[in-house]
Amino acid sequence: MKAVQELEQIGKEVSQCTKCELHYSRKLAVPGEGPPDAEIMFIGEGPGFHENEQGRPFVGAAGKFLEELLSSINLKRSDVFIANVIKCRPPGNRDPLPQELSACSEYLERQILAINPRIVVTLGRYSMAHYLPNAKISQVHGQSIRVRGRLIVAMYHPAAALHQRSLRPTIEADFAKLPELINQAGELHEYQEPAHQVKEEPKQLDMF
Ligand code: URA
Ligand code: SF4
Repeated sequence: MKAVQELEQIGKEVSQCTKCELHYSRKLAVPGEGPPDAEIMFIGEGPGFHENEQGRPFVGAAGKFLEELLSSINLKRSDVFIANVIKCRPPGNRDPLPQELSACSEYLERQILAINPRIVVTLGRYSMAHYLPNAKISQVHGQSIRVRGRLIVAMYHPAAALHQRSLRPTIEADFAKLPELINQAGELHEYQEPAHQVKEEPKQLDMF
């Protein structure tokens, strides 16, 4: 199936999904958005208030900051694919529960397979844990790490940097490294095997 069709199909399934309790309280599910052939994919945590109202990712304060960070490396929001690990808003923006994450991860994994981006940037702990369940964000942020044949760069969540101002220079510096990492990832990407082992335990990577 073509990426664009698969992404549409995932969007339909997500908007009607009842696989976890979060479907009771959501207003709109937020599948994600961006070009089906995006070279970079950003993965956040889950919808907040505004995302739940609009059905679109990163449309609140964190989204505004994400757009600023993108423009600091000459990218626009429409150049990248933006999704979340959890597609429906946890009530009161509480942390997602393990059973919710595992129910929802199939959609994210199918999106990544369809888009096949050169590089995946995870924003925050929950998104990092999709690839690096045992990593500490303070230790790995800003590095590109190969996991299951894919290049991952873990970053702090933009909302964390808004709340804790000392993180701001760190996330800005990590974004500044992205253009070079994307270039490097281009060469590896040519040889990449499809990451089809969705259910496989994450193999720990070279650096751990
Ligand atoms: N924070 C996230 O992690 N995702 C969004 O879509 C919005 C805010
Ligand atoms: Fe389905 Fe994910 Fe929404 Fe849960 S959070 S209802 S698994 S789309």
